[in-house]
Amino acid sequence: MRVTIVGPGYVGLPSAVVFAGLGHHVFLLGNIPEQVERLQKGEIHLHEPGLAESFRDLVREGKIVPTLSYADAIPSADVVVIAVGTPSGKYGEADLRYVFAAVRDLAEHLSDYTVVAMKSTVPVGTAEKVREIISAVILSSPPPLAGPRWKRWAKDLDSSPPKADQNDRPITFDVASCPEFLREGTALFDTKNPDRIVIGVTSDKARDLLLELHQELPGERVVTDPKSAECIKYASNAFLATKISFINEIANICEGVGADVTEVARGMGLDSRIGSKFLKAGLGWSGSCFPKDVRALHHIAFSNNYEPQILKAAIEVNNDQRRRLVAKLHAALGGDLQGKTIAILGLAFKPHTDDIRESAAIDLIYLLQQKGAHVRVHDPVARPDDRDVFKDVRFMDSAQDAVRDADAVVIATEWPEFKELDWRALRAIVRNPFIADGRNLLDPKLMRAAGWKYASVGRP
Ligand SMILES: NC(=O)c1ccc[n+]([C@@H]2O[C@H](COP(=O)([O-])OP(=O)(O)OC[C@H]3O[C@@H](n4cnc5c(N)ncnc54)[C@H](O)[C@@H]3O)[C@@H](O)[C@H]2O)c1
Repeated sequence: MRVTIVGPGYVGLPSAVVFAGLGHHVFLLGNIPEQVERLQKGEIHLHEPGLAESFRDLVREGKIVPTLSYADAIPSADVVVIAVGTPSGKYGEADLRYVFAAVRDLAEHLSDYTVVAMKSTVPVGTAEKVREIISAVILSSPPPLAGPRWKRWAKDLDSSPPKADQNDRPITFDVASCPEFLREGTALFDTKNPDRIVIGVTSDKARDLLLELHQELPGERVVTDPKSAECIKYASNAFLATKISFINEIANICEGVGADVTEVARGMGLDSRIGSKFLKAGLGWSGSCFPKDVRALHHIAFSNNYEPQILKAAIEVNNDQRRRLVAKLHAALGGDLQGKTIAILGLAFKPHTDDIRESAAIDLIYLLQQKGAHVRVHDPVARPDDRDVFKDVRFMDSAQDAVRDADAVVIATEWPEFKELDWRALRAIVRNPFIADGRNLLDPKLMRAAGWKYASVGRP
């Protein structure tokens, strides 16, 4: 099967590798010339374990063809997968400008029957809008793109599409919703081993093509309508975010009563109705998906006259987790952070990725700078972008350089490397041995034995 993936990012790249690995021919369409030039040499521009090697091999074998050209990548495709970004807009809504731009461009190059499958996380009803956009582009194009019978069908979208013939070659297409559930850091494994594959379609033809595309992959198939598929993605992310906020709320109660949230979570998680995943207390959820997706669902609810109470509370608890950690630093440093040097270990939103979008570390930097603190950061792979919040931050090449002469240390990302550090030796070079472990990464007893004043989240 010929598959074109639009958007060579954290989702598009692993998808390209997995589909090509299954034997499909993959075009990978990008929009940034320097990025695509690197991809054509077999090099990727992001950090994701195992991805670079597989990608390089598949490009060399000609199984993945990175390109900037819609004219090359679209006409022959059986399925076009949209995997461009959908960041937050001004009011928390999903900003669909990249999706719609890609759809307009691809619509001009459709030839035979094609399924346009949305992997980007998009608001409920987007598949329908995408179909309208493609129809409008085709209608405004000269024949043979828009033959008269096809034009009649495009105006009356409920009728069945006409059959192609020699003289009047209608462009037929379907738009489907195929949301993605991979996690950065384990993206390749997740894409190869999905728990479920959600296929939201309005026609049997699109269903059959998408089932064939995913044929070799494990996991339940959930074949449904596009709106339900779009909603499944938001509901799943919002549920996981809420689960994290819930355990953080319990952690905050544990701090009041002297219980240990890791013990509480273990005891809860062994109940099969609850499950142990996403019950880790800490600085809260962050990253390129949960924050924007929870905001977007909140916005969708409001736009449809429903005030979501649980989502609102989950967001508030999450924001509070960052503030609570800064309050612990504030209290530990005598009630004044002005002029104090804080070393933050971790900038990525989670370990094993270089993605810093909406990371907890960025919120901490902002809150600490507001209180007049000087901030140093070390992360094993993530690097700062050109955001204003980083203007006065010093980025250090090692944890030792970050910690030297600091007034306090914060763990913001649970990189395994931080666990392996020689904390006794770091104790000797820090000015004040206070550490706020925002990810409950380290062992409180060992840290105290190494001479640190140690605070974590929900643990005595
Ligand atoms: N990152 C994740 O963990 C994850 C997981 C599940 C779902 N998603 C969803 O998948 C979508 C993509 O996320 P991502 O993290 O891969 O984004 P990303 O920003 O890493 O990648 C998007 C890519 O699309 C490219 N692009 C933008 N407009 C384009 C166009 N018109 N033509 C060709 N390329 C274009 C960008 O240059 C970029 O390379 C989002 O909707 C996100 O919510 C992400």
